[in-house]
Amino acid sequence: MFPIIPSTLADQALIKKTRQLACQWAFEYAAGSSEPFYLQLTPEHLQLITADQSAGPVFIDFGSGAVDHRRKFGGGKGQTLAKAVGLHKTGSPVILDATAGMGKDAFVFASLGASVILMERSPVSAALLSDALERGQNNPEISDIIKRMRFIFYDATNITENTIRQWPDKPDVIYLDPMFPHRKKTAQVKKEMLIFQKITGSDLDSDQLLATALNIAPKRVVVKRPIKAPYLNQQQPSYTLKMKKHRFDIYITS
Ligand SMILES: C[S@@+](CC[C@H](N)C(=O)[O-])C[C@H]1O[C@@H](n2cnc3c(N)ncnc32)[C@H](O)[C@@H]1O
Repeated sequence: MFPIIPSTLADQALIKKTRQLACQWAFEYAAGSSEPFYLQLTPEHLQLITADQSAGPVFIDFGSGAVDHRRKFGGGKGQTLAKAVGLHKTGSPVILDATAGMGKDAFVFASLGASVILMERSPVSAALLSDALERGQNNPEISDIIKRMRFIFYDATNITENTIRQWPDKPDVIYLDPMFPHRKKTAQVKKEMLIFQKITGSDLDSDQLLATALNIAPKRVVVKRPIKAPYLNQQQPSYTLKMKKHRFDIYITS
């Protein structure tokens, strides 16, 4: 079980909340940890700690840093990510981000007017994401955007048409950005990504994920891939939009 600890043992409310999170996500509550990675709840937020300090604490904050900068200066609906999901043409589609991770792409979609269903199967990422969404609701600068983001803890390869029939919001577009199995750290591979690769694995079932998505997406499926990576499931997309390090493979399904 993945460990979770409170940042101080002098705060009973914090200890109680840490225990609740342990229960909710099936983590192991501990007073301290000697594991290489563990979650820590501080009075401010939930964060992922790398014990050897080769990387700083990882937490999500939609209201500051790079994510906030991208919201303000990222190019709006003209940016390639927005074009890939068709946001430049349709006003406010419903997008299922079936590999939500740290929610960065999902936040871009929501800040450009889309309603976003964020799906994630890793309990560590899910807990960090839920913590950020909860805090974001109380930040008046971004709370309207956060209202358009709905989180589901689920393995997207298990979605069927029946699953979606029961949702209040039906996705027009399915967005996939599975982990690519990077073997070594290069300038392109960010430290944060390598940490999550160690914790959550390399998403080796992502070919299956594309097959599932193509079955249920009424309009399009968009897959983010490193620029030189092969097509998911060796399946040729309808077209591709390229960036410097990544590309978006777009499968039109309607
Ligand atoms: C590269 S990250 C996504 C990053 C994300 N696009 C962002 O902007 O932060 C891939 C994530 O997809 C999740 N994932 C992969 N396959 C999944 C599946 N079948 N169902 C749900 N989540 C999945 C992994 O656990 C991982 O957190």
